[in-house]
Amino acid sequence: MDGGRVKGPSSGSAATTADSAHDLALARTFLESSREYVDRRLDFYLPRQDVVPQSLHKAMRYSIFAGGKRLRPALVFAAAEAVGGSREDGAPVACAAEMIHTYSLIHDDLPAMDDDDLRRGRPTCHKVFGEAMAILAGDALLTYAFEVLGHTPRAEAVPAVVRAIARGVGTQGMVGGQVLDIEGEGKPATLETVSAIHAWKTAALIAACCEAGALAGGATPKECEHLRQYGREIGLAFQIVDDILDVTSSPEALGKTPGKDARMGKATYPAVMDLAKARAEADRLAAQALQALRVLGPRARTLAALGRFVVERRS
Ligand code: IPE
Ligand code: IPE
Ligand code: MG
Ligand code: MG
Ligand code: MG
Repeated sequence: MDGGRVKGPSSGSAATTADSAHDLALARTFLESSREYVDRRLDFYLPRQDVVPQSLHKAMRYSIFAGGKRLRPALVFAAAEAVGGSREDGAPVACAAEMIHTYSLIHDDLPAMDDDDLRRGRPTCHKVFGEAMAILAGDALLTYAFEVLGHTPRAEAVPAVVRAIARGVGTQGMVGGQVLDIEGEGKPATLETVSAIHAWKTAALIAACCEAGALAGGATPKECEHLRQYGREIGLAFQIVDDILDVTSSPEALGKTPGKDARMGKATYPAVMDLAKARAEADRLAAQALQALRVLGPRARTLAALGRFVVERRS
């Protein structure tokens, strides 16, 4: 993909290849440091696997520490940073977001849903621990995430953080989107239906991560609104790229089985438009997302770089 198609937040004109390479390097460095930070905190928060019930704690840790890009924690940290907050401010939100995301993957892979055997380069949770334990590990990660949100250092932000995350994963967020995704299988899709599914199943949690990260960092309501807008657009672009990679990538690169969407008759962007148009739509949304960051000035540089990473990523 030509990274030069995504516009920078401050230039307003076509970014150069050099800008693109610089942004990608910045995004990768930030993702790496966020991953190290959030993994240490997750290890601290999650019950050890020798604590009763051991089988449950083992399954939770297996899926959490299977790898993963840790994009959502990075977005939380970058959103906190964009409003002058610290990594410490965002840490509980970042951990909760990754726990909830991992729960959504464990359940998404179940035989009753997408029926996948490979996730993050390893056998899926239910393949190793059985379906009952995979369901319960997902339930436990979701529940525990809300306990962890309560540890947000800026205590006055906790109610709004909890509301934002709960909305992002509720009936008109991730779970609602998963319902539409399952109900849409094997039916003719339109751009309207696919974008509605993706907005809920994926973009809502990503937008909530940006909003909650900002709240945890002490954002004003106006800053929150801009960051939520950025998250919605980057989140939709993220799922479009996920759909494209399902068509074009390999199990080695993805750590999951490609080609599943077409086999299951899923409503995806490549099902309603050709790959080049789908790519162009992801680029358009990313450029729009970066526009939403303009009012935040240079402190939103990392978020802008992460926005470019979302559309340029290969896994
Ligand atoms: C996969 O998310 C599920 C979607 C919402 C498309 P990621 O691509 O962020 O998965 P990990 O966390 O890196 O494994
Ligand atoms: C998953 O979408 C969205 C979630 C809420 C987990 P997909 O079903 O396309 O995700 P992958 O491709 O299995 O990671
Ligand atoms: Mg799915
Ligand atoms: Mg799936
Ligand atoms: Mg997918």
